[in-house]
Amino acid sequence: MSTPSSSIESVLVENRVFEPSAATVASARISGMPAYEALCAEAAKDPQAFWARLARENLGWHKPFTQVLDDSQKPFYKWFADGQINASWNCLDRHIGTPVENKTAIVFEADDGAVTRVTYKELLARVSQFANTLKAMGVQQGDRVVIYMPMTIEGVVAMQACARIGATHSVVFGGFSAKALQERIQDAGAVAVITANYQMRGGKELPLKAIVDEGIAMGGCESIKKVIVFQRTPTACNMVAGRDVLWHEAIAGQSTECAPTFVGAEHPLFVLYTSGSTGKPKGVQHSTGGYLLWARLTMLWTFDLKPEDVFWCTADIGWITGHTYVAYGPLAAGATQVVFEGVPTYPNAGRFWQMIEKHKVTIFYTAPTAIRSLIKAAEGDEKVHPKNWNLDSLRLLGSVGEPINPEAWMWYHRHVGHERCPIVDTFWQTETGGHMITPLPGATPLVPGSCTLPLPGIEAAIVDEQGNDVPNGSGGILVVKKPWPSMIRTIWGDPERFKKSYFPEELKGYYLAGDGAVRSADRGYFRITGRIDDVLNVSGHRMGTMEIESALVAKTDLVAEAAVVGRPDDLTGEAIVAFVVLKRARPTGDEAKALAKELRDWVGKEIGPIAKPKDIRFGDNLPKTRSGKIMRRLLRAIAKGEAITQDVSTLENPAILEQLAQNN
Ligand code: PRX
Repeated sequence: MSTPSSSIESVLVENRVFEPSAATVASARISGMPAYEALCAEAAKDPQAFWARLARENLGWHKPFTQVLDDSQKPFYKWFADGQINASWNCLDRHIGTPVENKTAIVFEADDGAVTRVTYKELLARVSQFANTLKAMGVQQGDRVVIYMPMTIEGVVAMQACARIGATHSVVFGGFSAKALQERIQDAGAVAVITANYQMRGGKELPLKAIVDEGIAMGGCESIKKVIVFQRTPTACNMVAGRDVLWHEAIAGQSTECAPTFVGAEHPLFVLYTSGSTGKPKGVQHSTGGYLLWARLTMLWTFDLKPEDVFWCTADIGWITGHTYVAYGPLAAGATQVVFEGVPTYPNAGRFWQMIEKHKVTIFYTAPTAIRSLIKAAEGDEKVHPKNWNLDSLRLLGSVGEPINPEAWMWYHRHVGHERCPIVDTFWQTETGGHMITPLPGATPLVPGSCTLPLPGIEAAIVDEQGNDVPNGSGGILVVKKPWPSMIRTIWGDPERFKKSYFPEELKGYYLAGDGAVRSADRGYFRITGRIDDVLNVSGHRMGTMEIESALVAKTDLVAEAAVVGRPDDLTGEAIVAFVVLKRARPTGDEAKALAKELRDWVGKEIGPIAKPKDIRFGDNLPKTRSGKIMRRLLRAIAKGEAITQDVSTLENPAILEQLAQNN
C-alpha cells in the first residue's frame, strides 16, 4: 500500500459547479442539501436506530430482526442477523396485489433488436418455475450455483431463482475463459452450472456451453452434478448425458408457484469473484438482508426512482453493477428496466441513443469507458452522434466503474443530458454492494469528475498510512470508518485474507477501499485518484497485475519472468503493459511481434480477452533492486514513456531501463 503522490493537486482545477434545478429539488425524495444533511445527522446520532428504521421501512421480513448490528467478532460484522428474509420475495412477491404486479419489470432488447417484455407477475411465475426446477434437480439451500449466462431475462431469472430457494449464486462474466470458470467453480464448490448454448454479441454467435465443458474437463469440478443449458440460439451444442439438461425441457411440467425459502439475513445471497492484489481472484461474499436493503435504498436515493421511470443500467450481470442495479435493485424498487443483450457499437455506435429513444429511458447508467468510446465514434461519424435521436425522455444520467474525466462528463452532460439531466458519478466497489460516494440528484451541486459526498450513514474518510485524517486538499487513503449493512462479509473460504485485505491492523479497524482519494478544499468533495494496490482498472473492469503475471509465467515453455503495470489510456482509463523475460534470447522485430501476439492470446485463454496486455515489451531482464525486488515504479514510468527521473541508485542493473524503454 502506498499513499498517492501529491501531484494529484494538478487535477483539482475543476471549478465548474452545476446546481440542481429548482424543479428537480422540489420533486426529489431527498430534497435539497438540508434534507441530505438531516439524514446524515440521523445516522451519526444513532447509527443502529437509523439502519433499523430503513431496514424495516424498505424490506419485507418474514421474521422481524431484533438485533441491528452485531460487532462482537469484528471485522466479521453481522446485520439484522436474527431476522428472516427472502431476496426474491422482496423483489417479486411483495409487488403482487399492488399496482406494480402488472407493470413491466423487464424490457429485454436482444442483440438483433427484438424486444420482449415481462411483467412482475410473469417474472414471478418464471422465477418460481425455474426455482422448482432447481429443487427438482437436487439443488438445496446453501448450495452454490455458478451462472455463466448472457444478458437475458433468463440470466435474471436464474439469479432470482437461486435466491428464492436459498442457494448462493456465483455469476461468472461470459467473457471469462474456461480456466477462469474452472477456478471459480472449484473455489465455490458449486453443484450446478446454469449457462446458455451460445450468446449473441455484435451479430456474432459466441459459445458459452463449449467453454463450460472445457472448464469442467480441466478437472477438479466433481462437485458439479448438473449443467442447465438455456437455448439462446437454434444451433445445437454438445450435451453430456446424465449431467446436462436443456432449460426449456427441464422447466416443462414444473409448477409456476414456489414458496420462497426464508433464510437468515446473513445467509450468503451470492459470491462474486473480483481481482485483488494477489494472483488468485477473491470470492466476495454478500449477505441477503443488508445487501438487499442497500440495493433498494440506493435506487430510491441515488436514482430518486419514480413509479413512471424507465431505468437502464448497461452493466452485465457478470459484474457487481449488474447484480445490484439489474438483478436486484430495480426489482426490489418495483422499477421498469431495460436489459440489453448486445454491445454499444452494434449495428453502429448510435445503439445506446437509439435504445433510449425507443424505450423512452428516463434514467441511464453506464461506464465512462462506454461514454469515451461513443464520443470518439460520434466525433468520427456524424450519423452516430446522439443528436440524431430524441433523448427528451431522459431525466437523470449515471456513471460508474472508474473515474470520469471532466471532458467526458461535459460531453455526457451536453450531448446526452442536454444540460438538463443531473449526472450521478457513483463511486463504489464489488465489496461495498452498492453506491458509497455519490451525488443525490435533487440535492448535491455537481462538480465534473467528482463523486462528491458519501451517502447518509457511510462514514467515508481520507487518512494517512497510520489511519489519521488528512486535511481537505491533501491526498490519502480512502477508508470507511464504520460498518454498513451491504458491506462484504468475508472472502469465500478465506477469512484471513478478508481481514488482511480490508481491515489492516495499522488502519484502526477502518475498511480499506484500496483507492486513493482527495477531498476538495472548498466543499470537501471526494475525487477518486485511482487504486493504491496492484489492481488495474481497464475499461471499468478490475484486473490484478499479479493475476496477469501468473497467467504469463504459466506459459512455462516460453516465459521466464513477467511484470505487469498499468498506463493511463484515453479510451480505456488504464491499459495493461507487460514486461516479459523469455527463456530464450530477447526477440526483436517480427519475431517479437509474433511472440507478443502469442502471449496476448495465451492470456486471453487463461483469463479472458479483457486481460490481454495492450503492450508487451521483451527484456533481457527486469529492473530489480540488489535484493531482487522488481522496481515497479520504474516500469510504470517506462510504460508511460516518461524519462526516468527517479532515484535508481538501488538498481542492480540500470542498463535494462533503456532496453525496456525501446519499443520492440
Ligand atoms: O477504483 C475504483 C473504481 O472501481 C473500483 C471497484 O471496481 P469493481 O469492484 O469492479 O466495481 C466497479 C463497479 C462499482 C474502485 O475501487 N471505481 C468505481 N466507481 C468509480 C471508481 N473510480 C472513480 N469513480 C467512480 N465513480
